[in-house]
Amino acid sequence: MADRIYRCHNSFLLRFICVSFICGAIPLNAEDGSEGWLRYAPLSPVPVSYARMPVSIVQLDSSKVSASAESEIIRGIRSMVGRTLRVETNVPDRDAWVLGTTEELRGAMPGYRAPKLGHEGFSVSALQVRGHHYWLIAGADPRGMLYGAFHVLSGIARGESIRAMEDSESPAAPVRWVNQWDNLNGTIERGYAGRSIFFENGSVRSDLTRAGEYARLLASVGINGCTINNVNADPRMLTMIRGVSRIADAFRPWGVRLSMSVASNSPQVVGGLDTFDPGNEKVAAWWKARVDEIYAAIPDFAGLVVKADSEGQPGPSQYGRTPVDAANMLATALKPHGGVVLYRGFVYNHHLDWNDLKADRARAAYDIFHPLDGQFADNVIVQIKNGPIDFQVREPVSPLFAGLQKTNTAVELQVTQEYMGQQRHVVFLPVQWKTYLDFDLRAENRSTPLKDIVDGKSFRRPLGGYVGVANVGLDTNWMAHPLAMANLYGFARLAWNPDTTAETIASDWTRLTFGNDEKLVSTVTRVLLSSWPIYEHYTGPLGLQTLTNITGPHFGPAPQSQENNGWGQWIRADHDGVGMDRTVATGTGFIGQYPPEVAAMYTSLETCPDNLLLFMHHEPYTYRLHTGKTLIQTIYDLHYQGADEAAGIVRQWKTLAGRIDPERYEKTLGLLEYQAGHAIVWRDAVDRWFAKMSGIADDQGRIDHDPNRITAAEMQLDGYTPVDVTPWETATDGKAYICKDRAACTATAHLNRPAGLYDIAVEYFDYRQAASTFQLSLNQKAIGTWTADNTLPGQAPNGDTSTRYTLRGVALRPGDVLTIEGHPDGNEPAPIDYVEITPEAGGVVGNPHP
Ligand code: GCU
Repeated sequence: MADRIYRCHNSFLLRFICVSFICGAIPLNAEDGSEGWLRYAPLSPVPVSYARMPVSIVQLDSSKVSASAESEIIRGIRSMVGRTLRVETNVPDRDAWVLGTTEELRGAMPGYRAPKLGHEGFSVSALQVRGHHYWLIAGADPRGMLYGAFHVLSGIARGESIRAMEDSESPAAPVRWVNQWDNLNGTIERGYAGRSIFFENGSVRSDLTRAGEYARLLASVGINGCTINNVNADPRMLTMIRGVSRIADAFRPWGVRLSMSVASNSPQVVGGLDTFDPGNEKVAAWWKARVDEIYAAIPDFAGLVVKADSEGQPGPSQYGRTPVDAANMLATALKPHGGVVLYRGFVYNHHLDWNDLKADRARAAYDIFHPLDGQFADNVIVQIKNGPIDFQVREPVSPLFAGLQKTNTAVELQVTQEYMGQQRHVVFLPVQWKTYLDFDLRAENRSTPLKDIVDGKSFRRPLGGYVGVANVGLDTNWMAHPLAMANLYGFARLAWNPDTTAETIASDWTRLTFGNDEKLVSTVTRVLLSSWPIYEHYTGPLGLQTLTNITGPHFGPAPQSQENNGWGQWIRADHDGVGMDRTVATGTGFIGQYPPEVAAMYTSLETCPDNLLLFMHHEPYTYRLHTGKTLIQTIYDLHYQGADEAAGIVRQWKTLAGRIDPERYEKTLGLLEYQAGHAIVWRDAVDRWFAKMSGIADDQGRIDHDPNRITAAEMQLDGYTPVDVTPWETATDGKAYICKDRAACTATAHLNRPAGLYDIAVEYFDYRQAASTFQLSLNQKAIGTWTADNTLPGQAPNGDTSTRYTLRGVALRPGDVLTIEGHPDGNEPAPIDYVEITPEAGGVVGNPHP
């Protein structure tokens, strides 16, 4: 990620003028992202209409949540508008903010007409009584009122007019939860932003400040539940209820209800029973006692999340029982307390037979759950991942949503970027989620978009909704990448109202996070909206899934890892073609799980969209897509396009210098530079792999023929020796060059570039542990040094660890000598791949072809 700016010519005066000019308009204090989208930055200027804002406030309700609503309004207005509100105990005879439930407002405010609100809905309105202006924030219940308060504060932060904040809204669905996959030892499964905010060393953390702050952030966007531990649940969780109740206490003022994931074998592992068979009375009694104990400590406990019979987790199948048996047993224990069971639909066999052409992991959820439709208790919700595989860069919507018409369902979306760049790449997921939520499954040949199914509208279900796997951590800014918080925000906005556009989400988030400067808002919005398609272009387009290292950390490129194992994320690439045939006629039959209209659409090559083609069909590389281009050339081209687009994001971000505080600007820039480099690693690896597999050359001859590159093999080496890289396609000719058993090694290149300015990038490998150091010299004069101390997820040279160090604007002349000097550290042998020397646009002086 190391990237340094090395400028020979710099228009210092121009930069000075431009930065000072912008600084004059916008305060640019360093910000660390800890406040997320709740910065309450002072408004400058304060909108004229705010002059009429009341300076008194009264809260009619006495609950804890209502107290938060009041204190939040006071805090926000003081910070943003610079006014300190006077707290009244009764509705005063002067202008005032009045907060209460609709019931309470009706009692206290003559003339107030309560709007019709759904559960947890809010209404913001103005009322004139006896010449006084009252600004009313009403909730169907205290939670709704809190959401109304945050709605007003968000409007103020975005400089909206008071009129624009008048509104009545009710959430689309009752379940709007996040799941955290936190382990009791303080690590987080698929967490990329530090350790758990809840647990450390097997116990609940003593300091739960961050847990309270998290709940406040969640409440500000309408999230009402949080599951605090890994779905691969530790049975000891049930022995920690006292500690867990402290987390619930931290959540409670914000109306966020706590839930837990439980292991189905808990009765045996921590309960001392000789079985965990859900059909056994002792087991049911044990669970009932545990649930009663939980409610005694946490009266507003939300419910239990269960992952069973999946990826090595124990489950009812061990006793010949079904998910219905397991879920309903827990539901019976929870029912008297008003709790729910979220039973995960992510159940599949990860020991599939690769040689069986009919085997298909995508079928699993439907095959298992569809026959059980109608048998689940009414406080059970089947929690289904958006797609039939596992949060890939693109998947079709899971057909199970249409296959459970007499069962409550919730869609599980992944906010944490497991397969999506792990918060080192910017990938704004609401754009992707919208494609799922809007997808019309056409159940019973009528309109049944996914959002209407989980909202309960399509099949008239009383319960259901949205679950986002969030995995925030102790990192100051919650999610590591400053732009990743847009995903948590966006998930919540869609859970509240799935019709919200991705553009609204992106621009609202940008305003709240960085400010209201129009150029800033339009640029960041554009970057966010383009980021998912870009990521798809340089990873796994055409329905190939992400093509990442699925048996490793799920990060860098490793297409072959999809194949020939039991996991079933196969793409079945061979010399002639690629893709999974999932048709009914000749393939696995998965397409037949969809309602007829959708099945017909995916079956026909005419109507199957190109972006899911290879998820549904196996086609020859020479097959022509709807664009008229061959499949193989499309794969090559999209990867080149994606890498170029990733570089374009960096250019766009750079136009924001001086418009964002330096701390967040630089941090984001460093990550975007890293991403642009990693996109090249992705492009090269995937294109090389397909070129070898297909034997068909890129018609532009680009693969492994980059005129700007000098590979380590082409350099004069002192001490550096080649080693094989696995997978081979993640380094030039499958080799990295390492410095072994020496304190230092060098690789030298004699350049013959036309005089001019160049960017010099050194492609090297940075392991998670150890910190090799490097020096780059030009004609024996050091021009850059860096340390490989990033925590990329790998301990070997490969697509997870390949990264680059870039010096920009280096003046070169023919005859220059460039030397890379590597100093190993620990088991990291200062590995390198190549150096890439790119003329800066307009930077070449004189005749480039002497
Ligand atoms: C993915 C992920 C696991 C997780 C699982 C799940 O497979 O890699 O870490 O446990 O999904 O959702 O249960």
